[in-house]
Amino acid sequence: MEKKAQFSSQIGLIAATVGSAVGLGNIWRFPAEVQTGGGASFLLIYIACVLLLGIPVMLAEFALGRAGGSDAAGSFINLGARRWQGTGWIAIAASFLILGFYIVVGGWTLEYMVQSLTGNLYADTAGIESMHTHFDLRMQEYIATDTLPLIYTYIVLAISAIVLLCGVQKGIERMSNILMPMLFVLLIVFCCFSLTLPKAAEGLTYFFRPDFSKVGPSTVLSALGQAFFSLSLGMGVLITYASYFKPDAKLVPTAFTVSLLDMLVSVLMGIIIFPAVVSFSLQGEGTAGSTLVFITLPEVFASMPAPSLWSTLFFLLLFIAALTSIVSVAEVSARALIDRLKVSRPRACLYVFMPLVALATLCSLSMGTLSGFTIAGLNIFDLLDTVTAQYMLTTAALLTSIYIGWFAPRGLFIGQLTNHGRLRPSGAHIFLFINRWIAPLLIIAVIISNFL
Ligand code: PHE
Repeated sequence: MEKKAQFSSQIGLIAATVGSAVGLGNIWRFPAEVQTGGGASFLLIYIACVLLLGIPVMLAEFALGRAGGSDAAGSFINLGARRWQGTGWIAIAASFLILGFYIVVGGWTLEYMVQSLTGNLYADTAGIESMHTHFDLRMQEYIATDTLPLIYTYIVLAISAIVLLCGVQKGIERMSNILMPMLFVLLIVFCCFSLTLPKAAEGLTYFFRPDFSKVGPSTVLSALGQAFFSLSLGMGVLITYASYFKPDAKLVPTAFTVSLLDMLVSVLMGIIIFPAVVSFSLQGEGTAGSTLVFITLPEVFASMPAPSLWSTLFFLLLFIAALTSIVSVAEVSARALIDRLKVSRPRACLYVFMPLVALATLCSLSMGTLSGFTIAGLNIFDLLDTVTAQYMLTTAALLTSIYIGWFAPRGLFIGQLTNHGRLRPSGAHIFLFINRWIAPLLIIAVIISNFL
């Protein structure tokens, strides 16, 4: 069995946790949500959701993980709450299922990066009338083929498996320490790029001007959903990572730093995206999810000098964001196997990655050969996305905050937040109050709204 792993430094701990939080959620979900929610009015609601709910629930997961000192299910068991371990298992199952499609998207990103690097992505664009149609067709064709997306999916699987095999300090922490600073440098470079575009000011106005006419109860609920997904809540990631925190790590400042950096990345993405789409009149359809990343942005790059260079850097940024999230989610399952079955890390990785190859293969093929196979009108890929993000993640987060708020051993939460009285309790009682009352009610509202 693995001896107790720990992050070696505070920086490493933050880099790894931010690495998990910053992912495709910031890059392609956020701009689309901003647009539907009326620009800055969505941003304001989103910030409120992160501060009022995201941070307290994150603290609940941190406290649980560090006090329990084990995987998402085992932490409950170690705290004498065997009956609650189901919560951890929901999170572990959800994280495994999320991997199935997240890895496939990671593979697409890698393919786009390689094709940008070799110049192929822009090779035959000269004289094309509608760039949008060109890149749209390319994307549709690419994901509908079977072999190439699968090959890239397997490459991503292999890279993540290697990182995981190297363990917490030498794998996850070292990767995050290298990649996260790189991600921030790339973000800054792209911000500078975007701010020099012809209609940069207009783009920023579009992003930062609130339009409250677009705000309704559904805006609040989607901001909440976005906050949960973006902060990696309800997936067991934060419980697992917190079990690697040192006993003297300060949970409250860590939660604030991680959440603010995650938010910063989303805002920087807005500053990158909106000037670009406004300058090229691509608002509306063009900012939704995968369209933004794989169609609209290549279109923007194609009309710039050195498209291949910009495009390579952008897909590298996306790949880094995806990889650090994938690794964090995979670690949830690996750690669960190490602790529950008392197996070695290499064996746990084998047990996680073997079925994952099958799941990811199904997800990838569900865009091609298997696209006719649907459940409730959704192909396997979309089904996993919906079931995990809308139902499992929220249920696990709900149960975690109810456990911490009502059933955990007395003083556990406050003790963890104050490092057993060594730190001032700054706000700890407020965070507990939120976990008791406000978080459960709001999460139930999100779950109900998903059924409507
Ligand atoms: N937070 C990641 C993102 O924003 C996604 C993620 C969800 C990662 C759940 C881990 C766990 O894309």
